[in-house]
Amino acid sequence: MNKSICSLLLISFLTITFLVGETHGTKQSRALDKLQKSKFNANSKIDKSHFKTQKNNIVVDEVVHSQDGMKEKDMIVKLPGQPNVKFSQYGGYVTVDKLVGRAFYYYFVEAHHSKETLPLLLWLNGGPGCSSLAYGAMEELGPFRVNSDGKTLHKNNYSWNYAANVLFLESPAGVGFSYSNKTFDYDTNGDRRTARDNYVFLLNWLERFPEYKNRDFYIAGESYAGHYVPQLAHNILYYNKKANRTIVNLKGIMIGNAVINDETDNQGMYDYLASHAIISDQTAHNINTFCNFSSTSNQSTECNEAASEVYRNTLFLDVYNIYAPICTNHNLTTLSKKISVALDPCSDDYVQAYLNRDDVQEALHANVTKLKYDWEPCSSIISKWGDSPSTIIPLLHEFLNNGLRVWVFSGDIDGRVPVTSTKYSIKKMKLPIETTWYPWFLNGQVGGYAEVYKGGLTFATVREAGHQVPSYQPARALSLIKHFLNGTPLPNTQTLFD
Ligand SMILES: *[C@@H]1O[C@H](CO)[C@@H](O)[C@H](O)[C@H]1NC(C)=O
Ligand SMILES: *[C@@H]1O[C@H](CO)[C@@H](O)[C@H](O)[C@H]1NC(C)=O
Ligand SMILES: *[C@@H]1O[C@H](CO)[C@@H](O)[C@H](O)[C@H]1NC(C)=O
Ligand SMILES: *[C@@H]1O[C@H](CO)[C@@H](O)[C@H](O)[C@H]1NC(C)=O
Ligand SMILES: *[C@@H]1O[C@H](CO)[C@@H](O)[C@H](O)[C@H]1NC(C)=O
Ligand SMILES: *[C@@H]1O[C@H](CO)[C@@H](O)[C@H](O)[C@H]1NC(C)=O
Ligand SMILES: *[C@@H]1O[C@H](CO)[C@@H](O)[C@H](O)[C@H]1NC(C)=O
Repeated sequence: MNKSICSLLLISFLTITFLVGETHGTKQSRALDKLQKSKFNANSKIDKSHFKTQKNNIVVDEVVHSQDGMKEKDMIVKLPGQPNVKFSQYGGYVTVDKLVGRAFYYYFVEAHHSKETLPLLLWLNGGPGCSSLAYGAMEELGPFRVNSDGKTLHKNNYSWNYAANVLFLESPAGVGFSYSNKTFDYDTNGDRRTARDNYVFLLNWLERFPEYKNRDFYIAGESYAGHYVPQLAHNILYYNKKANRTIVNLKGIMIGNAVINDETDNQGMYDYLASHAIISDQTAHNINTFCNFSSTSNQSTECNEAASEVYRNTLFLDVYNIYAPICTNHNLTTLSKKISVALDPCSDDYVQAYLNRDDVQEALHANVTKLKYDWEPCSSIISKWGDSPSTIIPLLHEFLNNGLRVWVFSGDIDGRVPVTSTKYSIKKMKLPIETTWYPWFLNGQVGGYAEVYKGGLTFATVREAGHQVPSYQPARALSLIKHFLNGTPLPNTQTLFD
């Protein structure tokens, strides 16, 4: 029986994370592998056609409801175990479909200072099915990280709310605390409905927080949010144009280690593993000879064999940061471990314990309908995915043509959606270069490399960062977001103290 290469390799990746995270829910990795597996099966029913807003999908005035008094109710007094801070936090639900009873959970942190003038930034994680509260807020760029006791928090000195007012959204329905009262929704998710619901969420959230309505707005995200971010941006442009007014004041998008273009993403992954001494030259040769990443039919036996070899070589590795240790003890500790800047590889476990506490859910105004399943970093109740375009490159072109700022970044030690994949995808866009490849600096060190293209696209690598860039290189990530939001190039000179 023929099996597609990706199905085999991805089953393999599936197994890896399964071994690593056995009793601890689905990890970010597994979700993407599961989707890719079904996309690369010849019998796949997933719709891979280009993303477009369906005409008359949303009538803006009909989906926006009164939000009177809800902002005040959403204010979070204090999270359990939280150190004192001066900025405000909010958390709560926004209904995205009244008829069905679908509601999305958000967590919002205002900026440490100048909240009246700093932009509004929405952060999305990928999966599909992974939570922006789990990764974005609690392990990457949020103001707090969870200690190893699973019940107290410490400050993240490089939180992105030093640069913006930051909104985290759990999307689509079935992710984290976001739910639908019709469980049928969990089997019918896909890119298009996610983009629709995210847009309806945003309109209503801005109604609840009207002081942000005209604020400069940016969207950023990583991994499979390489689909979500551009698709939401597309909807925003579409409905602004349709209404002939600025409904949402979108200025730019930024995506990191992002799923952009299936063919180049896959080719780039194998090339990365080959050039980083993870697979042999022979295996790399076999992959390149026998596999066809632009094919939608099943792959050859030789290709499948090469893919199994890749599987054996990556089995005991955290492929999302090829140099990081893996978590070997999932137990919480009675006393918190000493805090280090480097990410603890068992952080998923701490976050999962914390967010499943009753007192934490109450403080967050989450799980108000008493869902029947636990909170998980990546959903295991979303069972199917209906549509996922094979490329989002046309959307990136659309944004450049509409004057949006577009930044694409890449942590350079991620082996899953690595820097090679992103380079190949950008190359496919055939953009003329404006500023050639150069090292950018932070505190006297090379923070990564950057290249700027005509039309406003910046590509930036982040040196020694895995898939979750702000987790592994928090200071470099904060510098990156500040330059992105300010619209200033990453510095090409070695100043010692920034
Ligand atoms: C492709 O592989 C799938 C899954 O193994 C199998 O069900 C299907 O029959 C194959 N299709 C062709 C055209 O060989
Ligand atoms: C879902 O159902 C619960 C219980 O009936 C209800 O309290 C809640 O408001 C509903 N959610 C939405 C978004 O309508
Ligand atoms: C759009 O609005 C501008 C002014 O805001 C107006 O000049 C223009 O005619 C409008 N276009 C359409 C198609 O209504
Ligand atoms: C790969 O597959 C595509 C689509 O099925 C086909 O057009 C192309 O010729 C194939 N490439 C090779 C090298 O076989
Ligand atoms: C984790 O905790 C369990 C139950 O308390 C214990 O049996 C196990 O040995 C612990 N594991 C490690 C690696 O310490
Ligand atoms: C964060 O900053 C505070 C105050 O400057 C410092 O005491 C603390 O050690 C820093 N935390 C980390 C993890 O670097
Ligand atoms: C919601 O609350 C119920 C009852 O406390 C709990 O059993 C369930 O695990 C929670 N689910 C989520 C997603 O937080």
